[in-house]
Amino acid sequence: MEWTAIAADVDVSTRPLAVTAGGVPLVVLRPSPGAEPVVFADRCPHRLVPLSAATVEGGRMRCAYHGWEFDAAGNCVSLPSQEGAPPPRASLPAGPKVRITDGMVEISGLPASDPEDLFTNEDPSLRNAWHPVGIIGIDDMSEVELMGRTYRPAEEKTQDRWGLRWLAPETPLAELFDDPDHDDANYVGAWLPTARSNASAGIVADNFLDVAHFPFVHAKTFGAAEEKLVERYEVTDEPWGCRSVQDQWFDNPADPGVAAGIRPVRQRRRATYVYRAPFQLMLRLEELDAGSVKTILFFAQPESLSSTRIYTKMLFHGIGGVADPPPDVIRSEVAFEEAVLEEDLELQRALRLPGLPLRMRDELHVRADLLGVHLRRVLAQFKTSSRPCPPPPSAGPALD
Ligand code: FES
Ligand SMILES: [Fe+2]
Repeated sequence: MEWTAIAADVDVSTRPLAVTAGGVPLVVLRPSPGAEPVVFADRCPHRLVPLSAATVEGGRMRCAYHGWEFDAAGNCVSLPSQEGAPPPRASLPAGPKVRITDGMVEISGLPASDPEDLFTNEDPSLRNAWHPVGIIGIDDMSEVELMGRTYRPAEEKTQDRWGLRWLAPETPLAELFDDPDHDDANYVGAWLPTARSNASAGIVADNFLDVAHFPFVHAKTFGAAEEKLVERYEVTDEPWGCRSVQDQWFDNPADPGVAAGIRPVRQRRRATYVYRAPFQLMLRLEELDAGSVKTILFFAQPESLSSTRIYTKMLFHGIGGVADPPPDVIRSEVAFEEAVLEEDLELQRALRLPGLPLRMRDELHVRADLLGVHLRRVLAQFKTSSRPCPPPPSAGPALD
Protein backbone atom coordinates (compact mmCIF):
# COMPACT_ATOMS: atom_id res chain seq x y z
CA MET A 1 0.00 0.00 0.00
CA GLU A 2 1.32 3.42 -0.94
CA TRP A 3 1.22 6.21 1.66
CA THR A 4 1.44 9.93 0.97
CA ALA A 5 2.24 12.56 3.61
CA ILE A 6 -0.32 15.41 3.52
CA ALA A 7 0.35 17.46 6.69
CA ALA A 8 2.45 17.63 9.84
CA ASP A 9 0.57 16.02 12.73
CA VAL A 10 1.08 19.14 14.88
CA ASP A 11 -0.66 21.30 12.28
CA VAL A 12 -3.86 19.27 12.36
CA SER A 13 -6.44 20.53 14.83
CA THR A 14 -10.19 21.01 15.14
CA ARG A 15 -9.78 23.83 12.62
CA PRO A 16 -10.20 22.12 9.22
CA LEU A 17 -7.11 22.36 7.02
CA ALA A 18 -7.23 22.35 3.19
CA VAL A 19 -4.52 20.24 1.52
CA THR A 20 -4.04 18.73 -1.93
CA ALA A 21 -2.82 15.25 -2.83
CA GLY A 22 -2.47 13.97 -6.40
CA GLY A 23 -4.41 17.04 -7.57
CA VAL A 24 -7.40 16.21 -5.33
CA PRO A 25 -8.45 18.87 -2.77
CA LEU A 26 -8.76 17.30 0.69
CA VAL A 27 -9.71 18.46 4.17
CA VAL A 28 -7.90 17.14 7.25
CA LEU A 29 -8.99 17.77 10.84
CA ARG A 30 -9.42 16.35 14.32
CA PRO A 31 -13.15 15.98 15.10
CA SER A 32 -12.34 16.82 18.75
CA PRO A 33 -9.12 17.94 20.49
CA GLY A 34 -6.63 15.04 20.67
CA ALA A 35 -8.72 12.73 18.47
CA GLU A 36 -7.23 10.85 15.51
CA PRO A 37 -7.15 12.95 12.31
CA VAL A 38 -9.77 12.28 9.63
CA VAL A 39 -9.49 13.11 5.92
CA PHE A 40 -12.25 13.68 3.35
CA ALA A 41 -12.62 15.18 -0.13
CA ASP A 42 -12.78 18.92 0.52
CA ARG A 43 -16.38 19.45 -0.61
CA CYS A 44 -19.78 19.19 0.95
CA PRO A 45 -22.01 16.75 -1.00
CA HIS A 46 -24.79 19.37 -1.08
CA ARG A 47 -23.40 22.36 -3.02
CA LEU A 48 -19.73 21.30 -3.10
CA VAL A 49 -18.66 24.11 -0.76
CA PRO A 50 -15.20 23.35 0.68
CA LEU A 51 -15.46 21.65 4.05
CA SER A 52 -12.23 23.41 4.99
CA ALA A 53 -14.56 26.41 5.57
CA ALA A 54 -16.63 24.35 8.07
CA THR A 55 -16.64 24.85 11.81
CA VAL A 56 -16.06 21.94 14.17
CA GLU A 57 -17.97 21.59 17.40
CA GLY A 58 -18.82 18.63 19.62
CA GLY A 59 -17.18 16.13 17.27
CA ARG A 60 -19.16 17.40 14.27
CA MET A 61 -18.22 19.39 11.21
CA ARG A 62 -20.81 22.04 10.27
CA CYS A 63 -20.78 23.20 6.64
CA ALA A 64 -20.58 26.99 6.31
CA TYR A 65 -23.34 27.31 3.71
CA HIS A 66 -26.46 25.49 4.97
CA GLY A 67 -25.29 24.03 8.26
CA TRP A 68 -25.37 20.33 7.37
CA GLU A 69 -23.44 18.48 10.08
CA PHE A 70 -21.16 15.46 9.67
CA ASP A 71 -19.75 13.17 12.35
CA ALA A 72 -16.18 11.84 12.49
CA ALA A 73 -17.09 8.96 10.15
CA GLY A 74 -18.56 11.43 7.61
CA ASN A 75 -22.21 10.54 8.29
CA CYS A 76 -24.59 13.45 7.79
CA VAL A 77 -26.27 13.73 11.19
CA SER A 78 -28.15 17.01 10.73
CA LEU A 79 -29.82 18.62 7.69
CA PRO A 80 -31.53 21.69 9.17
CA SER A 81 -33.73 22.70 6.19
CA GLN A 82 -35.95 19.62 6.50
CA GLU A 83 -37.41 17.29 9.10
CA GLY A 84 -36.53 13.62 9.41
CA ALA A 85 -33.28 11.71 8.96
CA PRO A 86 -30.90 13.03 6.29
CA PRO A 87 -30.86 10.89 3.12
CA PRO A 88 -27.89 8.45 2.95
CA ARG A 89 -26.37 10.35 0.01
CA ALA A 90 -26.02 13.40 2.26
CA SER A 91 -23.12 11.64 4.01
CA LEU A 92 -19.54 12.17 2.89
CA PRO A 93 -18.05 9.49 0.63
CA ALA A 94 -15.45 7.46 2.57
CA GLY A 95 -12.15 9.28 2.84
CA PRO A 96 -8.72 7.70 2.38
CA LYS A 97 -7.05 5.54 5.03
CA VAL A 98 -5.08 7.67 7.51
CA ARG A 99 -2.00 6.94 9.67
CA ILE A 100 0.59 9.00 11.50
CA THR A 101 4.25 8.21 10.82
CA ASP A 102 7.24 10.24 12.01
CA GLY A 103 5.06 13.17 12.95
CA MET A 104 3.33 13.29 9.56
CA VAL A 105 -0.30 12.54 8.69
CA GLU A 106 -0.24 10.09 5.78
CA ILE A 107 -3.05 8.84 3.57
CA SER A 108 -3.54 5.90 1.27
CA GLY A 109 -6.04 6.08 -1.61
CA LEU A 110 -7.70 9.18 -2.99
CA PRO A 111 -11.36 10.22 -3.22
CA ALA A 112 -12.84 11.34 -6.55
CA SER A 113 -11.74 14.72 -7.83
CA ASP A 114 -14.01 17.78 -8.27
CA PRO A 115 -16.61 17.55 -11.06
CA GLU A 116 -15.57 19.14 -14.35
CA ASP A 117 -18.87 19.73 -16.13
CA LEU A 118 -19.43 23.29 -14.93
CA PHE A 119 -21.21 26.35 -16.31
CA THR A 120 -18.52 29.03 -16.16
CA ASN A 121 -18.47 32.75 -16.93
CA GLU A 122 -16.84 31.93 -20.27
CA ASP A 123 -19.39 29.42 -21.50
CA PRO A 124 -19.85 30.13 -25.25
CA SER A 125 -23.66 30.09 -24.90
CA LEU A 126 -23.43 33.33 -22.90
CA ARG A 127 -22.78 35.16 -26.16
CA ASN A 128 -26.50 34.74 -26.91
CA ALA A 129 -27.69 36.78 -23.94
CA TRP A 130 -28.21 40.26 -22.58
CA HIS A 131 -25.61 41.20 -19.98
CA PRO A 132 -25.46 44.29 -17.73
CA VAL A 133 -22.20 46.17 -18.37
CA GLY A 134 -22.53 49.37 -16.30
CA ILE A 135 -24.70 51.91 -14.53
CA ILE A 136 -25.57 54.80 -16.84
CA GLY A 137 -24.12 58.07 -15.58
CA ILE A 138 -21.80 56.34 -13.09
CA ASP A 139 -19.63 53.81 -14.92
CA ASP A 140 -17.15 54.46 -17.70
CA MET A 141 -18.37 52.11 -20.41
CA SER A 142 -15.87 52.80 -23.18
CA GLU A 143 -14.60 49.23 -22.63
CA VAL A 144 -16.22 46.49 -20.57
CA GLU A 145 -15.30 42.90 -19.68
CA LEU A 146 -17.56 40.01 -20.63
CA MET A 147 -16.75 36.30 -20.80
CA GLY A 148 -13.01 36.95 -20.61
CA ARG A 149 -13.04 39.46 -23.51
CA THR A 150 -13.10 43.23 -23.82
CA TYR A 151 -16.10 44.78 -25.58
CA ARG A 152 -16.77 48.36 -26.66
CA PRO A 153 -20.49 48.91 -26.01
CA ALA A 154 -20.59 51.77 -28.54
CA GLU A 155 -19.86 49.20 -31.28
CA GLU A 156 -22.23 46.48 -30.03
CA LYS A 157 -25.95 45.80 -29.77
CA THR A 158 -27.10 47.46 -26.52
CA GLN A 159 -30.24 48.62 -24.73
CA ASP A 160 -30.83 50.64 -21.54
CA ARG A 161 -33.08 49.37 -18.75
CA TRP A 162 -33.36 50.02 -14.99
CA GLY A 163 -30.59 52.62 -15.37
CA LEU A 164 -28.22 49.92 -16.64
CA ARG A 165 -26.71 49.42 -20.08
CA TRP A 166 -27.17 45.90 -21.41
CA LEU A 167 -25.04 44.32 -24.13
CA ALA A 168 -25.77 41.23 -26.24
CA PRO A 169 -22.75 39.96 -28.25
CA GLU A 170 -25.05 37.75 -30.42
CA THR A 171 -28.83 37.45 -30.85
CA PRO A 172 -30.15 36.91 -27.30
CA LEU A 173 -32.23 33.82 -26.55
CA ALA A 174 -34.17 35.57 -23.78
CA GLU A 175 -35.33 39.17 -23.38
CA LEU A 176 -35.16 41.18 -20.15
CA PHE A 177 -37.98 40.40 -17.73
CA ASP A 178 -40.82 42.77 -16.82
CA ASP A 179 -40.79 44.46 -13.47
CA PRO A 180 -43.95 46.46 -12.70
CA ASP A 181 -42.53 48.10 -9.54
CA HIS A 182 -39.71 49.88 -11.37
CA ASP A 183 -42.13 51.76 -13.63
CA ASP A 184 -44.47 52.58 -10.72
CA ALA A 185 -44.04 56.19 -9.52
CA ASN A 186 -44.98 55.07 -6.00
CA TYR A 187 -41.63 53.36 -5.59
CA VAL A 188 -38.34 54.96 -4.56
CA GLY A 189 -35.26 53.36 -6.13
CA ALA A 190 -31.68 53.19 -4.81
CA TRP A 191 -28.55 51.43 -6.07
CA LEU A 192 -26.17 49.52 -3.85
CA PRO A 193 -22.53 50.15 -4.76
CA THR A 194 -21.61 47.58 -7.41
CA ALA A 195 -19.75 44.57 -6.04
CA ARG A 196 -17.50 41.84 -7.40
CA SER A 197 -17.41 38.15 -6.63
CA ASN A 198 -14.72 35.64 -7.45
CA ALA A 199 -17.49 33.05 -7.95
CA SER A 200 -19.12 32.50 -11.34
CA ALA A 201 -22.35 34.34 -12.18
CA GLY A 202 -24.19 30.99 -12.08
CA ILE A 203 -23.08 30.41 -8.50
CA VAL A 204 -23.94 34.02 -7.58
CA ALA A 205 -27.44 33.53 -9.07
CA ASP A 206 -27.85 30.22 -7.24
CA ASN A 207 -26.93 31.95 -3.98
CA PHE A 208 -29.55 34.67 -4.59
CA LEU A 209 -32.28 32.05 -5.13
CA ASP A 210 -31.20 29.96 -2.13
CA VAL A 211 -33.64 30.07 0.80
CA ALA A 212 -31.87 27.70 3.23
CA HIS A 213 -28.64 29.59 3.91
CA PHE A 214 -30.01 32.57 5.87
CA PRO A 215 -29.49 31.23 9.44
CA PHE A 216 -25.89 30.26 8.66
CA VAL A 217 -24.46 32.81 6.21
CA HIS A 218 -26.51 35.78 7.46
CA ALA A 219 -26.34 35.12 11.19
CA LYS A 220 -24.87 38.60 11.85
CA THR A 221 -27.56 40.53 9.94
CA PHE A 222 -31.03 38.99 9.79
CA GLY A 223 -30.37 35.23 9.80
CA ALA A 224 -30.19 34.49 13.51
CA ALA A 225 -33.95 34.92 13.91
CA GLU A 226 -34.81 33.03 10.71
CA GLU A 227 -36.43 29.63 10.75
CA LYS A 228 -33.98 26.85 9.75
CA LEU A 229 -36.73 24.62 8.46
CA VAL A 230 -37.74 25.56 4.90
CA GLU A 231 -41.45 25.16 4.20
CA ARG A 232 -42.43 23.33 1.04
CA TYR A 233 -42.78 25.82 -1.83
CA GLU A 234 -43.64 25.67 -5.49
CA VAL A 235 -41.88 26.95 -8.56
CA THR A 236 -43.64 27.84 -11.81
CA ASP A 237 -41.77 27.63 -15.10
CA GLU A 238 -41.65 30.74 -17.27
CA PRO A 239 -39.99 31.21 -20.69
CA TRP A 240 -36.26 30.89 -19.98
CA GLY A 241 -36.84 31.20 -16.27
CA CYS A 242 -39.10 30.59 -13.32
CA ARG A 243 -41.01 32.23 -10.47
CA SER A 244 -41.79 31.19 -6.92
CA VAL A 245 -44.25 32.82 -4.52
CA GLN A 246 -43.66 31.90 -0.88
CA ASP A 247 -45.78 33.09 2.05
CA GLN A 248 -43.88 33.20 5.32
CA TRP A 249 -44.45 34.26 8.93
CA PHE A 250 -41.93 36.74 10.37
CA ASP A 251 -41.48 39.18 13.26
CA ASN A 252 -41.87 42.82 12.24
CA PRO A 253 -40.90 44.96 15.27
CA ALA A 254 -40.01 47.92 12.98
CA ASP A 255 -43.61 48.28 11.78
CA PRO A 256 -45.05 51.49 13.35
CA GLY A 257 -48.42 49.70 13.41
CA VAL A 258 -47.00 47.33 16.02
CA ALA A 259 -46.02 50.19 18.36
CA ALA A 260 -49.45 51.74 17.81
CA GLY A 261 -51.11 48.48 18.79
CA ILE A 262 -52.88 48.13 15.41
CA ARG A 263 -51.04 44.95 14.35
CA PRO A 264 -49.32 42.04 16.10
CA VAL A 265 -45.52 41.71 15.80
CA ARG A 266 -45.90 38.32 14.07
CA GLN A 267 -46.96 39.08 10.53
CA ARG A 268 -47.23 37.60 7.07
CA ARG A 269 -44.73 38.24 4.31
CA ARG A 270 -44.91 37.21 0.67
CA ALA A 271 -41.57 36.58 -1.03
CA THR A 272 -41.69 36.38 -4.82
CA TYR A 273 -38.54 35.17 -6.56
CA VAL A 274 -38.22 35.74 -10.31
CA TYR A 275 -35.42 34.32 -12.46
CA ARG A 276 -34.69 34.84 -16.17
CA ALA A 277 -31.68 33.39 -18.03
CA PRO A 278 -28.92 33.80 -17.75
CA PHE A 279 -28.50 36.09 -14.73
CA GLN A 280 -31.53 38.34 -14.19
CA LEU A 281 -33.02 38.02 -10.72
CA MET A 282 -35.61 39.73 -8.60
CA LEU A 283 -36.93 39.29 -5.08
CA ARG A 284 -40.11 41.12 -4.14
CA LEU A 285 -40.76 41.17 -0.39
CA GLU A 286 -44.27 42.25 0.44
CA GLU A 287 -45.32 42.76 4.05
CA LEU A 288 -48.92 41.70 3.70
CA ASP A 289 -50.16 43.12 7.01
CA ALA A 290 -48.14 46.37 7.10
CA GLY A 291 -48.54 47.00 3.35
CA SER A 292 -44.93 47.85 2.55
CA VAL A 293 -42.96 46.43 -0.36
CA LYS A 294 -39.22 46.05 -0.86
CA THR A 295 -38.08 44.81 -4.27
CA ILE A 296 -34.51 43.79 -4.94
CA LEU A 297 -33.34 43.72 -8.58
CA PHE A 298 -30.14 41.72 -8.85
CA PHE A 299 -28.10 41.31 -12.04
CA ALA A 300 -24.75 39.62 -12.65
CA GLN A 301 -22.15 40.41 -15.32
CA PRO A 302 -19.92 37.42 -16.12
CA GLU A 303 -16.62 39.28 -16.58
CA SER A 304 -14.12 36.42 -16.62
CA LEU A 305 -13.49 32.96 -15.17
CA SER A 306 -12.75 34.47 -11.77
CA SER A 307 -14.81 37.67 -11.73
CA THR A 308 -18.51 38.50 -11.64
CA ARG A 309 -19.77 42.06 -11.25
CA ILE A 310 -22.98 42.42 -9.26
CA TYR A 311 -25.59 45.17 -9.67
CA THR A 312 -28.26 45.50 -6.98
CA LYS A 313 -31.10 48.02 -7.17
CA MET A 314 -33.67 48.34 -4.41
CA LEU A 315 -37.20 49.68 -4.85
CA PHE A 316 -39.18 50.76 -1.79
CA HIS A 317 -42.80 51.49 -1.10
CA GLY A 318 -44.49 52.14 2.23
CA ILE A 319 -41.46 51.33 4.40
CA GLY A 320 -42.09 52.55 7.95
CA GLY A 321 -45.74 53.14 7.19
CA VAL A 322 -45.21 56.11 4.85
CA ALA A 323 -45.65 56.04 1.06
CA ASP A 324 -42.38 57.90 0.38
CA PRO A 325 -39.65 56.64 2.69
CA PRO A 326 -37.35 59.55 3.74
CA PRO A 327 -33.66 59.56 2.64
CA ASP A 328 -32.31 58.37 6.00
CA VAL A 329 -34.59 55.31 5.87
CA ILE A 330 -33.42 54.56 2.31
CA ARG A 331 -29.78 54.98 3.39
CA SER A 332 -30.13 52.57 6.27
CA GLU A 333 -32.01 50.01 4.14
CA VAL A 334 -29.25 50.17 1.51
CA ALA A 335 -26.50 49.89 4.16
CA PHE A 336 -28.25 46.86 5.65
CA GLU A 337 -28.54 45.20 2.24
CA GLU A 338 -24.86 45.90 1.60
CA ALA A 339 -23.96 44.09 4.83
CA VAL A 340 -26.15 41.16 3.76
CA LEU A 341 -24.48 41.01 0.34
CA GLU A 342 -21.04 41.14 1.96
CA GLU A 343 -21.90 38.00 3.97
CA ASP A 344 -22.72 36.19 0.71
CA LEU A 345 -19.51 37.46 -0.92
CA GLU A 346 -17.47 36.22 2.04
CA LEU A 347 -18.93 32.73 1.63
CA GLN A 348 -18.23 32.91 -2.12
CA ARG A 349 -14.56 33.78 -1.43
CA ALA A 350 -14.21 30.33 0.17
CA LEU A 351 -15.46 28.58 -2.99
CA ARG A 352 -13.10 26.82 -5.33
CA LEU A 353 -15.14 25.60 -8.33
CA PRO A 354 -14.96 27.95 -11.33
CA GLY A 355 -18.59 27.34 -12.34
CA LEU A 356 -22.02 26.01 -11.45
CA PRO A 357 -22.44 22.22 -11.77
CA LEU A 358 -25.24 21.49 -14.23
CA ARG A 359 -25.31 17.69 -13.93
CA MET A 360 -27.86 16.84 -11.25
CA ARG A 361 -25.83 13.94 -9.91
CA ASP A 362 -22.80 16.10 -9.05
CA GLU A 363 -24.64 17.69 -6.11
CA LEU A 364 -27.30 16.51 -3.68
CA HIS A 365 -30.50 18.49 -4.16
CA VAL A 366 -32.96 18.48 -1.29
CA ARG A 367 -36.48 19.90 -1.08
CA ALA A 368 -35.36 23.43 -0.16
CA ASP A 369 -33.29 23.54 -3.38
CA LEU A 370 -36.21 23.55 -5.83
CA LEU A 371 -35.36 27.04 -7.14
CA GLY A 372 -31.71 26.03 -7.60
CA VAL A 373 -32.80 22.93 -9.50
CA HIS A 374 -34.89 25.09 -11.86
CA LEU A 375 -31.92 27.45 -12.33
CA ARG A 376 -29.70 24.52 -13.34
CA ARG A 377 -32.32 23.13 -15.72
CA VAL A 378 -32.82 26.49 -17.43
CA LEU A 379 -29.06 27.04 -17.78
CA ALA A 380 -28.55 23.48 -19.09
CA GLN A 381 -31.18 24.18 -21.76
CA PHE A 382 -29.65 27.59 -22.43
CA LYS A 383 -26.23 26.02 -22.91
CA THR A 384 -27.46 23.59 -25.55
CA SER A 385 -29.92 25.89 -27.33
CA SER A 386 -27.62 28.70 -28.35
CA ARG A 387 -26.48 28.51 -31.91
CA PRO A 388 -22.81 28.11 -32.69
CA CYS A 389 -21.43 31.53 -33.61
CA PRO A 390 -20.20 32.07 -37.17
CA PRO A 391 -16.43 32.03 -37.70
CA PRO A 392 -14.81 35.48 -37.44
CA PRO A 393 -14.10 37.15 -40.78
CA SER A 394 -10.36 36.71 -40.32
CA ALA A 395 -10.72 32.91 -40.18
CA GLY A 396 -10.62 32.68 -44.00
CA PRO A 397 -12.43 30.11 -46.10
CA ALA A 398 -13.39 26.80 -44.53
CA LEU A 399 -11.03 23.93 -45.36
CA ASP A 400 -12.43 20.65 -46.59
S1 FES B 1 -24.64 22.36 3.58
FE1 FES B 1 -22.78 22.31 2.55
S2 FES B 1 -23.17 23.29 0.72
FE2 FES B 1 -25.10 23.23 1.66
FE1 LIG C 1 -27.49 35.28 1.05
